[in-house]
Amino acid sequence: MIPINYKKYPFIAKIRHHVSSNNYLPVTELSILPENYPPPVKSLNWSEVFINHKAANVLDIGCGKGVFLISYALSNESDNILGLEIRSEAVEWINSVVDGERIPNCRALYYSVANDLPFIESDTIDRIFYLFPDPWPKRRHYRRRAFNLKFIENCYRVLKPGACLYLATDVDYVDEYQTKLLEEFSKFELIRLNDRDEWNFPTTNKENFCIKHNIDVFRLICKK
Ligand SMILES: C[S@@+](CC[C@H](N)C(=O)[O-])C[C@H]1O[C@@H](n2cnc3c(N)ncnc32)[C@H](O)[C@@H]1O
Repeated sequence: MIPINYKKYPFIAKIRHHVSSNNYLPVTELSILPENYPPPVKSLNWSEVFINHKAANVLDIGCGKGVFLISYALSNESDNILGLEIRSEAVEWINSVVDGERIPNCRALYYSVANDLPFIESDTIDRIFYLFPDPWPKRRHYRRRAFNLKFIENCYRVLKPGACLYLATDVDYVDEYQTKLLEEFSKFELIRLNDRDEWNFPTTNKENFCIKHNIDVFRLICKK
């Protein structure tokens, strides 16, 4: 596998940290949609998404700048991985790399997962990654966390029986919050990992930062 020369795609520097706070809320909680609200996609024509015309079988929710998304696609050629991301500049940038490098099994979608996963059929997904989410630490911001009971139900619905949702975060209270909700939901088998060696996936942008600064990461696998 030839590494990508990201210097050919300089746009990455301009990606904002956060978008307008209403964009993190579902359409159902907004009386007026903000102008730059990510389109609430209901269905996708997969033949326009992936070269092999097949549906996605792997999701990277909150794919950020796509470092993990692209590495995963390159090292798992038989999978179709779809990244979902609320920052349009990141999505445009990722797709410019995907097109520039002609990566057939990778695409990013400008979308807020707060609006569920209606474009994904039930029992069709082999892996969902939700890696290093925004912590939204203040109680009044909790509503903007993508991870809630509805999110868990959506993930459970779209995963194939026996398939897994993969969670990683460097924030202890985010890990506690997510674990508590998953325990309440109770349908997933929860497998806690204490060693990165048991996690056989490429690193994410945020994870590279954690490794560099020796920051602990909490990892949880949720098996349907
Ligand atoms: C801290 S970043 C981590 C990015 C990447 N997964 C990584 O590990 O480097 C969290 C990402 O989730 C995205 N995000 C937050 N809420 C979202 C939502 N409701 N729908 C889609 N993406 C969301 C943010 O824009 C941001 O890019």
